[in-house]
Amino acid sequence: MTGGTGTIVAVPALAEVEREAKACTRCPLAGGRTQVVFGVGDATADLMFVGEAPGQQEDLKGEPFVGRSGQLLDKLVFEEMGLTRDRFYIANTVKCRPPGNRDPQPAEIAACGPWLEAQVDLIDPKVVVTLGNFAAKLLLNTTEGITRLRGRAYPYRRGVLVPTFHPAAVLRGAGDLAAQMRADLVRAKAFL
Ligand code: URA
Repeated sequence: MTGGTGTIVAVPALAEVEREAKACTRCPLAGGRTQVVFGVGDATADLMFVGEAPGQQEDLKGEPFVGRSGQLLDKLVFEEMGLTRDRFYIANTVKCRPPGNRDPQPAEIAACGPWLEAQVDLIDPKVVVTLGNFAAKLLLNTTEGITRLRGRAYPYRRGVLVPTFHPAAVLRGAGDLAAQMRADLVRAKAFL
């Protein structure tokens, strides 16, 4: 896999952005965090997932999607796309845990935006899969909700953006979200 920016440049540049992000105090979430959860995976991958915000487990470990949602995500991505975590990059819209796992606020999303923007710029993925409302709305610059947005791919940078549900919503088990999320992952795979 080759990042458009070029592997040789992107990997050290991303490490430098991560170093800076780990000292970030741009919003009040900084005061309550254990760790900044920057992102993990293959910085030269063609595929990037973008979630919402770290939860308790992620805050403790410093890695995105390590709790129950992450386990479900790993399972669905492996079953539908045949990929393990070392084959893609994964990050969140907001890099620090909101207290009590509340929704991230617009000001927090805006303050954290440049970190995600830098990640997307440097990784330069062909396919971005957003997980849940917050990432889809931010990256597609829309107020439309995930239920209306999902079901198709949107032109995005050098490829596409495929919105899907947040795995936490699938775990809550409302309707047949798992089948729809699986279909979205198959859709994403077709663009890789
Ligand atoms: N939910 C998210 O959106 N991101 C995580 O990293 C964990 C749970």
